[in-house]
Amino acid sequence: MNNLSAKNWYVAAYSKELKPNTVIKRMILGKNIALYRGDKIVSALKNSCPHKMLELSLGKVQNDELRCRYHGWSFDKHGRLTAIPCIGEDEKILKCSVKNYVVIEQDGFIWIWPSDQMPPLDSAPPSYPNQTGYYSYDLSSCLRTTADLVLENGLDCAHTGFVHTGLFRSKPNHYVEAVINTKQSGIEIQTIGEGEKKADKKSILSFLTKDTEIYHTDEYIKPHTVYVDYKSNYISATTLLICTPETKETTRTYTRMATKFNYFNKTQGLVLKQIVKKVIKQDVIPLC
Ligand code: FES
Ligand SMILES: [Fe+2]
Repeated sequence: MNNLSAKNWYVAAYSKELKPNTVIKRMILGKNIALYRGDKIVSALKNSCPHKMLELSLGKVQNDELRCRYHGWSFDKHGRLTAIPCIGEDEKILKCSVKNYVVIEQDGFIWIWPSDQMPPLDSAPPSYPNQTGYYSYDLSSCLRTTADLVLENGLDCAHTGFVHTGLFRSKPNHYVEAVINTKQSGIEIQTIGEGEKKADKKSILSFLTKDTEIYHTDEYIKPHTVYVDYKSNYISATTLLICTPETKETTRTYTRMATKFNYFNKTQGLVLKQIVKKVIKQDVIPLC
């Protein structure tokens, strides 16, 4: 489907996963990365101390720097060595550094450019700001599969009547039309005529649409994202699914669901959230 090289922006974490003065470990395209936040700013360093190779993610964040847990060497956001605790008074700090990666935080995501080369000057991560009036929530999973297969699942309507029978959709019972548009950014698929009748089927879709028509588009956005948009008279629901390959066999997904209820209250919305979580669980065998 696509070429997931290091020369792309990838989500490394949700912003809320990285509290001030904390560090986490992330594997991205086989690269072991220590992601840390000082008081505010997020930085990313190769997760290996140049002294004795201990993972820097085991260390501590102090004064916007990452201090190795083993002998306390300290590295700034550029990866430059700034302090060695066990050093003689007349000794100089070694000229030494660890690889750093460019990170940008926006829309509640921490994006990283995991290449050894800098991003082009005009390059920026995609922007997915919160939609006005929508109630949104995030879910992350680690999966033993490739990003391509996860993205295909996000676009795959045919499985929903089987895997999610009675929850999201009822069993397949009629043909629908799909209009496929190839765009520069990827592919957009509009599905027409998939409304379900409440009277004779039992599924979330039939309940939420209550015999009304559904507007439904799925979009594959190069290189690692799927965006799903449902609208009926009763509800609008979008799903943003962004994949970050950890290794050749494993993928970390970042899913942001957003719903706007035209005739539902907040409690009903929370119940729906639990149902959506269950739908997602039916799709995955999580590793973490
Ligand atoms: S291994 Fe990191 S300071 Fe020694
Ligand atoms: Fe599914």
